[in-house]
Amino acid sequence: GGEPISALTKVHHPEPMLSLANARSAEELRAWVLRMRNHLAREGIENPTFRYVCEPKIDGLAMSLIYRDGVLERGATRGNGEIGENVTHNLRTIASIPQRIEDAPAMIEVRGEVYMSLPDFAALNERRAAAGLSTFMNPRNSAAGTIRQLDPKLTAERPLSFWAYGVGAAEGMAFGSQWDALGWLRDRGFPVNRDIVRLDTEDEVVERCLDWQERRGALEFEIDGVVVKVDDAELQRRLGVVGRGPRWAIAWKFP
Ligand code: IVH
Repeated sequence: GGEPISALTKVHHPEPMLSLANARSAEELRAWVLRMRNHLAREGIENPTFRYVCEPKIDGLAMSLIYRDGVLERGATRGNGEIGENVTHNLRTIASIPQRIEDAPAMIEVRGEVYMSLPDFAALNERRAAAGLSTFMNPRNSAAGTIRQLDPKLTAERPLSFWAYGVGAAEGMAFGSQWDALGWLRDRGFPVNRDIVRLDTEDEVVERCLDWQERRGALEFEIDGVVVKVDDAELQRRLGVVGRGPRWAIAWKFP
């Protein structure tokens, strides 16, 4: 958007923000499940029962929101995964992000994606063109420029949206599953996508991924895939992380 590159304050994430390995076919998805079974077998866990949570992979920017005693204290971009940029001033302009939450533990980190909806993006570019300003390439680009603005007044003129998709660090609280974490977030007013489902079999997961692939163009926001997560928190812990990615999650990428 031609704005000066800002000098945002750097912050350390309480836990690294990870990235995801990809699957591009049913075979690759099944291979992922097999790798998890093999890994768990080496850990002495034979024949685990997996349930899977399937979520849209939002094409936006990953955010970490820290709530202390239920109050939004800090919001930051992903950055390199270890160190991000403090964008609390801009996240406070997003109406759907709660400033306060009820029944909160001492500390909880909410993870999610900031994005610009397609109608908001189109309207913004129309306003900019009418004012003789340069237009944005795409919603992601527009959201990225907006969230890194120094002046929150400018941010407020460029509507951003948010989907919560998980919990990172927490003190005084733990979830038994991804599904429970999403339910807890929804109950506290976070925007959690209504099309997220929990499934029992790989076949259902593949079917669901293909379904998202078909409905992709009918959504109000851009997605570039489906994130498939093992639901059970204990299995997630046993599966752990390899390199920068958790073994327990994978991104089904659209062609
Ligand atoms: S989970 C499991 N869930 O994808 C740890 N990420 O490649 C990974 N993303 O940086 C994060 N939608 O920006 C997760 N429903 C979703 C997501 C999602 C989009 C992005 C996020 C992250 C990248 C990982």
